[in-house]
Amino acid sequence: MTIFDVRPEAGLQRAPEDDGWVAASHAAVSAVLREPGWSSDHRNATTHAGVSVSEIAGELLSKVLVFMDAPDHTRVRGLIGKAFNPRSVEQLRPRIRELTEELLVPLRAAGRFDVINDFAFPLPVTVICELLGVPSEDRDLFRNFTRDLAVILDWDVTAAQLGVAAGALLNFTAYLVPLFEERRRTPQGDLITALVAAEEAGDRLGADELLATVVLLLVAGHETTMNLIGNGLLALLRNPDQLELLRARPDLMSGAVEELLRYDSPVRLTVRTALREAALDGVSIRAGDQVFAMIDAANHDPAVFVSPDVLDVTRDAHCHAAFGAGAHYCLGAALARAEAQLAFSALVSLPDLELAIDKPEWRPIVGFHALQSLPVTC
Ligand code: HEM
Repeated sequence: MTIFDVRPEAGLQRAPEDDGWVAASHAAVSAVLREPGWSSDHRNATTHAGVSVSEIAGELLSKVLVFMDAPDHTRVRGLIGKAFNPRSVEQLRPRIRELTEELLVPLRAAGRFDVINDFAFPLPVTVICELLGVPSEDRDLFRNFTRDLAVILDWDVTAAQLGVAAGALLNFTAYLVPLFEERRRTPQGDLITALVAAEEAGDRLGADELLATVVLLLVAGHETTMNLIGNGLLALLRNPDQLELLRARPDLMSGAVEELLRYDSPVRLTVRTALREAALDGVSIRAGDQVFAMIDAANHDPAVFVSPDVLDVTRDAHCHAAFGAGAHYCLGAALARAEAQLAFSALVSLPDLELAIDKPEWRPIVGFHALQSLPVTC
């Protein structure tokens, strides 16, 4: 049995090899993410719930927003929050629409394309590059860095894989540091300029936090949105009645994106550590124990969602946990929603869109649910 077999109805379970706990119900996942007393910093853990964080990775992760606790978390989040608030994101919509069109014109003409490589990857990566002020021509570099780095969070990582991840980080650093220098010399109106200025002010952002924040934004800014577009389109193509409904009723799009996030969540789990003894689902947890918060299981909890395994673009799915919850609620949620709404609107408008293969392949990675490729004809 793997942690992914745990059903939301089962209550709190021991993780394999008794290494921490698995929370799969919507209520338990919400409690772990929202309540005080739970840490995102792996260094507080006495178990290591399947995640093999090496010393290199541990050092790196401690500077990344998503693995920080207050007060450092509050300080760093405050510095980047404004760029991603719903009002700032609304201003990006025309540019996202334009990029969507630019990408789809040649694909429509070709009549066959890979949704992941040709559309779902370039769209969000170009948006986040433009926001940060990183040349989007270099996007293939980030894609490779991201793939190599992502194993840090995976299970049973070999020394060779960790070596590759450490190399990717060095390459990422060698790429970004000169860019920071350039912005220091010649400030622009982009997010890197703002972050470099915060770093120069000294007490607001450390040099290593600056690097970790830009890497996080580049990685988080494309990987998960790409997977939402892939997983969501596959779900629609496998449920043609829902695809038709969405074509006929474009007004359903914003709710449909929430349902697609719920139905096949791009981020499958996150991990928290108990800072003090806690009770969860009536079970007592010791300080230092880690809990896997199973986001995808919570999103299929029958106590919250009627017929959870049915895709229904008319359902109210807003209380899904696909963007997490509490202090670490996804900072890019408004941006991801805008990108997905515009991307799905464009894709469903292709009249003859069909899957070109029966069984698309999934990437062998634990924390994300991600397609390798999604070939379609149109
Ligand atoms: C469909 C797309 C996305 C999904 C499903 C997603 C999911 C998540 C989840 C589940 C978390 C919480 C992790 C935890 O609590 O441990 C998170 C955090 C975060 N996400 Fe996203 N994300 C998406 C898109 C984005 C985008 C487009 C960006 C940035 C441009 C972004 C930036 C972040 C950041 C910076 C955090 C850390 C927030 C914090 O620790 O305070 N995400 N995301």
